[in-house]
Amino acid sequence: MSTDTPHRLRPGPRTVLITGAASGIGAAIAEAFAGEGARLALADRDTRKLEALRDRLTGAAVITLHTVDVADADQVRDTVEDVVHQHGAVDVLVNSAGILTEVPLTEMDPATWDETIAVDLRGVFLSCRYALPHMIEQGGGRIVNIASQLGQKGGEGLTHYCAAKAGVIGFTKALAREAAPHNVLVNAIAPGPVETPLVDGLSPDWKGAKQAELPLGRFGRPQEIAPTVLLLASDPGGNLYVGQTLGPNSGDVML
Ligand SMILES: NC(=O)c1ccc[n+]([C@@H]2O[C@H](COP(=O)([O-])OP(=O)(O)OC[C@H]3O[C@@H](n4cnc5c(N)ncnc54)[C@H](O)[C@@H]3O)[C@@H](O)[C@H]2O)c1
Repeated sequence: MSTDTPHRLRPGPRTVLITGAASGIGAAIAEAFAGEGARLALADRDTRKLEALRDRLTGAAVITLHTVDVADADQVRDTVEDVVHQHGAVDVLVNSAGILTEVPLTEMDPATWDETIAVDLRGVFLSCRYALPHMIEQGGGRIVNIASQLGQKGGEGLTHYCAAKAGVIGFTKALAREAAPHNVLVNAIAPGPVETPLVDGLSPDWKGAKQAELPLGRFGRPQEIAPTVLLLASDPGGNLYVGQTLGPNSGDVML
């Protein structure tokens, strides 16, 4: 048996492309990779918040900002090309961009459904679609998709969001099988409820009921999710994770 580590990452500061980097979990992931001295490509539709994040990050080797709507194929393709042009590679892709609204199905406008699927599922497909060929050409990479525990157990008023997140988990497993032979490891994280602007859109009743059913009795903080991404992107710690969905979720789902 070979003693080589087959899933070695490129040496030197890695280029990490993070979508939804401007806020919440994505911003915490950016902070964590900055602390490792990574090269960061921060992508979001909110340019002002991206600039504010850049100004408070310390430790990153290089930071580039990319304004993009992850649901728009041309914009995502151009963003990935820009990242590869400016950094010379894309070693790690983290898909964190997402939206959330609370609407019972009987009141759901089809446009609300379409928008949620477009950002939360199509957005993940698009960035993987355009980043993966570069990773294959480079000889390897890591992709981490931020799903949600709601994609595993469902949630009232969230059929659109849960469908998208369950889709991300299935997409991750399928892509993991395609990409692993190319030394690209693809995994997902399904966080439980986390205190970010995203959950501001949920009613106090919804949040109270959710908190009451958590074994840990509290929502998480973005800084408690980011280390799981670092683990999946690490060598050797992440080398054997393929198509997994890791669950920093306050005990909301136990698999
Ligand atoms: N907060 C939670 O409780 C929780 C739990 C499980 C999973 N998640 C997931 O984690 C990810 C991050 O969520 P968060 O809680 O940090 O939310 P957040 O609202 O703080 O951050 C989401 C970011 O995505 C960006 N974004 C939204 N639509 C976009 C688009 N079309 N194109 C580009 N950027 C876009 C926003 O501008 C924002 O900066 C999401 O995928 C979310 O579904 C969150």
